[in-house]
Amino acid sequence: MELPVLDPAALTASQPTILPAPRRALPVASGVRPSDTLGRPLRDLRISVTDRCNFRCTYCMPAEVFGRDFAFLPRAQVLTFEEIDRLARAFVALGAEKLRITGGEPLVRRDLPALIALLARIRRPDGGSVDLTMTTNGSGLRALARPLRDAGLARLTVSLDSLDPDVFAAMNGVDFPVARVLKGIAAARDAGFAPIKVNTVLKRGVNEDSIVPLVDWAREEGLILRFIEFMDVGHSNGWRLDDVVPAGEIVDRINAVHPIEPLEPAYSGEVAERWGYLDGRGEVGVITSVTRPFCGDCTRARISANGVLYTCLFSVAGHDLRGLLRDGAPDDEVRASIAAIWGVRDDRYSEVRSDATADLRRVEMFAMGG
Ligand code: GTP
Ligand code: 5AD
Ligand code: SF4
Ligand code: SF4
Repeated sequence: MELPVLDPAALTASQPTILPAPRRALPVASGVRPSDTLGRPLRDLRISVTDRCNFRCTYCMPAEVFGRDFAFLPRAQVLTFEEIDRLARAFVALGAEKLRITGGEPLVRRDLPALIALLARIRRPDGGSVDLTMTTNGSGLRALARPLRDAGLARLTVSLDSLDPDVFAAMNGVDFPVARVLKGIAAARDAGFAPIKVNTVLKRGVNEDSIVPLVDWAREEGLILRFIEFMDVGHSNGWRLDDVVPAGEIVDRINAVHPIEPLEPAYSGEVAERWGYLDGRGEVGVITSVTRPFCGDCTRARISANGVLYTCLFSVAGHDLRGLLRDGAPDDEVRASIAAIWGVRDDRYSEVRSDATADLRRVEMFAMGG
């Protein structure tokens, strides 16, 4: 497969295209489960609560592009907690079973436990509970793990790219000390989160040597570690195929030290490919968006901090749900609009990645919600 190489000189931030959400569809009742054009239901909603972050990871918000003068969303454009709650309820009514809070860095949003408390009350149409979880860089967990747990957050995933202080500092772009993230993970464990997942993005020549130390540490600590192939999300991270460490190679490196065998997915449509240690000491995962795309059973929708619905991580455009809410649309119309957008979804970017898709002005991952 020939993959494109982005020209860093051509990369500048731009505004995503925001389309009005459709309004003429018939109202939709709670409990209706829309499928997209490829037969995929809507099962997961990822909600970005802010486009801001205290890190500048090189693969996500490189400091050269997202400097002091970068215009993040003004507060009036950001969804309020009440608006997020309404949209989350609409998605759950349409079949979403998992709500994942993301950013930017979600913990930089003030009073986040209050939002968690609202979302923790949502029930599925059959009365079942919703899987409420969050992806964070861990920098704020020391203070917030307990309040988040008390508010009803069920699960937690922490991003951590290396245990080596210098490598970690270089990758987070702001010299953030790895020791503070480790304390955050410890605080999360003390607060009762279990199991905690850890996500590591690998970049060739930058943190491959961190694979084995991370594996040893995660086994010792009882954490579920997942390695993510560096992806061509957004249009500012200077992605090159040469910078990707393929999952096959990651698995070989782990297997050489601690033999592993493939495990069945924990649920249908799981993003991570699971591997179990033969000695029974837990599992490790790889997320293979580049070398083995998994669009076929992709059931994920994303809402950005300003209320735009994106149906693919690599979208160039989304629909303005905030506009619907602020225009006073009732719940059944909000559901109808979301169902209509989902009904025409045909995204499978990772499977059709090619030279032709290389120049698209994709929305940044921190802006749409990782
Ligand atoms: P669980 O609910 O614990 O199974 O977590 P998850 O694997 O669904 O979510 P998580 O946020 O931990 O996802 C891990 C990483 O996988 C993300 O940070 C992305 O890098 C990548 N990823 C998640 N969803 C998608 C997707 O829809 N498409 C692609 N290409 N990558 C994705
Ligand atoms: N490629 C792969 N993963 C990425 N993430 C952010 N940018 C990229 C990228 N270019 C991941 C982070 C974090 C989650 C929010 O998204 O590591 O785990
Ligand atoms: Fe921030 Fe997460 Fe992006 Fe890193 S990957 S810059 S922590 S939003
Ligand atoms: Fe889903 Fe788009 Fe990712 Fe494919 S590339 S798995 S369609 S979000």
